[in-house]
Amino acid sequence: MIPFSPPRIDDKVISEVTEALKSGWITSGPRTKKFEDKITEYTSCKVTVAVSSWTMGVQVLLSYWGIKEGDEVIIPSYTYCATANVIIHSGAIPVMVDINKEDFNLNIEKVREAITEKTKAIIAVDIGGFPADYNDLMTLINEPKIKAKFNGNSDRQKKLARILLISDSAHSFGALYYGKRSGILADISSFSFHAVKNLTTAEGGALCFNLPEQFNHDDIYKEMCAKILHGQNKDALAKTKKGNWKYDVIEPGFKCNLTDIQAAIGLVELDRYQENLEHRKQIFDAYSEGFKNEPWAILPIYESKSKISSYHLYLLRIRNITEDQRDAIIEEIFKQGVSVNVHFQPLPILTAYRKRGYKISDYPNAYSNYINEITLPVYYDLSKEEVNAVISAVKNAINYILG
Ligand SMILES: Cc1ncc(COP(=O)(O)O)c(C=O)c1O
Repeated sequence: MIPFSPPRIDDKVISEVTEALKSGWITSGPRTKKFEDKITEYTSCKVTVAVSSWTMGVQVLLSYWGIKEGDEVIIPSYTYCATANVIIHSGAIPVMVDINKEDFNLNIEKVREAITEKTKAIIAVDIGGFPADYNDLMTLINEPKIKAKFNGNSDRQKKLARILLISDSAHSFGALYYGKRSGILADISSFSFHAVKNLTTAEGGALCFNLPEQFNHDDIYKEMCAKILHGQNKDALAKTKKGNWKYDVIEPGFKCNLTDIQAAIGLVELDRYQENLEHRKQIFDAYSEGFKNEPWAILPIYESKSKISSYHLYLLRIRNITEDQRDAIIEEIFKQGVSVNVHFQPLPILTAYRKRGYKISDYPNAYSNYINEITLPVYYDLSKEEVNAVISAVKNAINYILG
């Protein structure tokens, strides 16, 4: 069976993790700090805070930004549930908008229509690793009329004096937008290092801050480090220093730091990341070459004049089929020994959101992109022969089901 996205765990990773275990320091410590610094260097953001997952990173961030009951946060309807759940847990309302048919990303005009006096943030999602339209989003939230509508509640909101632009960069580590890397495309970007992601730490994430000049990023780092450790003003490493045991809790915080064991995996992954990206690009290109002459194939956009994907998910679509036919094709692909997936079920079709009043009929592009979508395996160790086997399995399955 060709798996969907196994992690690349080799002797190098095992040896670095072993070193971390043997070092006697297994929670957040020197390796986590080094990992943060390397991400800052790679993305060229102003400061990075490593966290235990994308989800907890953004949960803490919403609290840090003072987003709460009565507020609204705009998100695409086509994303993973985490993007909406953190907003619901903050007490605010996720305002879902439809996506572009071509690249699955937030539709700017729909965002414009959704902005109200209650909008505190927008979370744009880089689906499959293809960056959203950040320049357009930034221009929109800086329009005088839109800025005039903004009501800042917390000190930080007032200081920014406009809607906060957050990038859900869970998929887009290493992606480029006008030559700039994901991590500096929005005010704040959040990465996921979950096991299936391009770069993994088993579970983990990072917040990259790139706020305007009026914000002091050294302060942000200190405040966020406290906030991810219960609000303590000293972390475990600092407390081990002689005479430094006493700490204070400034405000009740969360507990979602990344450990040195996880950072050990991340440091190896980061070191060889460009090679990983090149390999993933070859797989994407091979799929597109394999399907380009098929009349049923709608190929994903992963490179354009302004954007280069991180080649995270290959989102193939099959023209003119129903959801049932898509599901039958997937069954058939599995029978031929290939694991595939669907990214994503639009949130309004899922029970939790339907119950909250979201209706899929309000999101026609999200629905039509979902019903014919099949995500193909992409990972570093996928060989050329396996890529060819995936292409054959997809073609056979489509011939078998559609005749
Ligand atoms: C678009 C998107 N956002 C957020 C997340 C959540 O990431 P994590 O599992 O690190 O919390 C995921 C995870 O798959 C995702 O795909």
